[in-house]
Amino acid sequence: MFHAQPITAASKADVYNELARQVQALVEGESNMIANASNFAAQVFHCLPDLNWAGFYFYDGAELVVGPFQGLPACIRIPLGKGVCGIAASSLKTQLVADVNAHANHITCDAASRSEIVVPLRRMDGSLLGVWDVDSPLPNRFDDVDRVGMEKLCRIFMVACEL
Ligand code: SME
Repeated sequence: MFHAQPITAASKADVYNELARQVQALVEGESNMIANASNFAAQVFHCLPDLNWAGFYFYDGAELVVGPFQGLPACIRIPLGKGVCGIAASSLKTQLVADVNAHANHITCDAASRSEIVVPLRRMDGSLLGVWDVDSPLPNRFDDVDRVGMEKLCRIFMVACEL
């Protein structure tokens, strides 16, 4: 059985490489989206430092609806174009927000959140599956290494789910 453990590595890129190996092992041979999303969220949340929320919002054809996550209860529905999640979904571009308090469009779920990264998830046919949203209590927690690392993790999830 796999156990989530904090990763100690020389560099942030090494941390993501190790986390990618762990996530790959967790989803290997399993295509159920909810099962994989649940374990994915748990592994990332417990292995990366300084996070207070990590989870999925899935597009139901009208808006984003909260999916498996770790952290405090979150807002359930987010319209496309609203909040950082809705912007990531409508622009199909990863959003890095260094200071959520300075971001006009941020939706506050947990008042502890100070910065966040949101990765849009597209199926192989290009359609929108949803977004992967990670929040931190630290300002400016996420940079381009996180963006590359998170996007790589999301691809592992999407491939395993055959999406
Ligand atoms: N931060 C998001 C809202 C969802 S919570 O953070 C879980 C946003 O502004 O889109």
